[in-house]
Amino acid sequence: MARVFSGVQPTGNLHLGNYLGAIRNFTRLQDDNECLYCVVDMHAVTVWQDPKVLKNNTREVTAAFLASGIDPKTHIVFNQSGVPQHAEIAWIFNCVARVGWLNRMTQFKEKAGKHRENASVGLYVYPNLMAADILAYKATHVPVGEDQKQHLELARDIAQKFNNDFGVEQFPIVEPLILDSAARVMSLRDGRKKMSKSGASDYSRLNLNDDADTIALKIRKARTDSEPVPDGSPESGDRVSRPEAFNLLEIYAALADQPISQIQNEFGGQQFSQFKEALVNLAVEKLGPIGAEMQRFGVDPKYIDSVLFDGVERARSIAEPIRDEVHEIMGFLRG
Ligand code: AMP
Ligand code: TRP
Repeated sequence: MARVFSGVQPTGNLHLGNYLGAIRNFTRLQDDNECLYCVVDMHAVTVWQDPKVLKNNTREVTAAFLASGIDPKTHIVFNQSGVPQHAEIAWIFNCVARVGWLNRMTQFKEKAGKHRENASVGLYVYPNLMAADILAYKATHVPVGEDQKQHLELARDIAQKFNNDFGVEQFPIVEPLILDSAARVMSLRDGRKKMSKSGASDYSRLNLNDDADTIALKIRKARTDSEPVPDGSPESGDRVSRPEAFNLLEIYAALADQPISQIQNEFGGQQFSQFKEALVNLAVEKLGPIGAEMQRFGVDPKYIDSVLFDGVERARSIAEPIRDEVHEIMGFLRG
């Protein structure tokens, strides 16, 4: 039985990419593994968050976990700031990771943009905290979307350097679990951009709490080209030449849990208007119940808070002795 860890930031607008790239896979790992799923509020504040909104967003991500089928009794669902060992180990990793390693992180470059000098220091060392999240539990398996691959490689480098520097076998080498299908869901408005919480237009994403009418409207309005649905033949194009068309096919395939080739066999050659109606039905069937459950949890914040509180206690009891081992290795005196 492996220990699985993953995190999602409470930064609002949870969308189909978060679900297909990450949260749905979290649920599928529950049978054979010991899982910790974390709402990473300390990662969220690397960019400005309104405190009241942050609280609500933390509850919303928790609700999405539960609505998607994560069982908080068998597994651990908690918020990061409740377990101080994440920050403690992150500090040590700030002293292990090299400036050159962080300089290569593409997400920092994207998020800091032109205002690099003005970005928070937290945003820069964000991947070190992410490594600490995972290694505070010696977790080995980490389900994420494709955009987190580089951060997981950094977590491996940190674990390896720590082990080498101190001549120990303290930290395991992390395995990314990035599924091929839907590891990178693209915007409904621009097939070259990732679907993201911060995409300016709400029409660029399907939010997990969208109702059926909104899902239908967004899919009907999704950008496509003027060609029919690609049927798999070379003449019908590829992901590069027809990014929007393939994005919709990939979304369908992921929601239906079938290979994309099968979807192409079924719909290839049809008009997109027809295919979109099938996608509307499938998306409403799969996402509708999740949105409804999220709403149900939304009116019961006390229950959500009790889940997090319980998760924090259980997470701490794993992370504390691991932090103690790290302190011993480092030569920190214990009072
Ligand atoms: P975040 O919202 O950045 O905290 O991401 C939470 C999880 O969703 C991470 O595992 C991401 O890799 C994944 N994710 C975010 N956006 C997408 C996307 N467009 N396609 C697939 N996975 C995604
Ligand atoms: N950085 C991840 C994201 O933005 C979230 C995250 C934080 C995470 N800590 C983690 C994911 C640990 C996996 C493991 O999506």
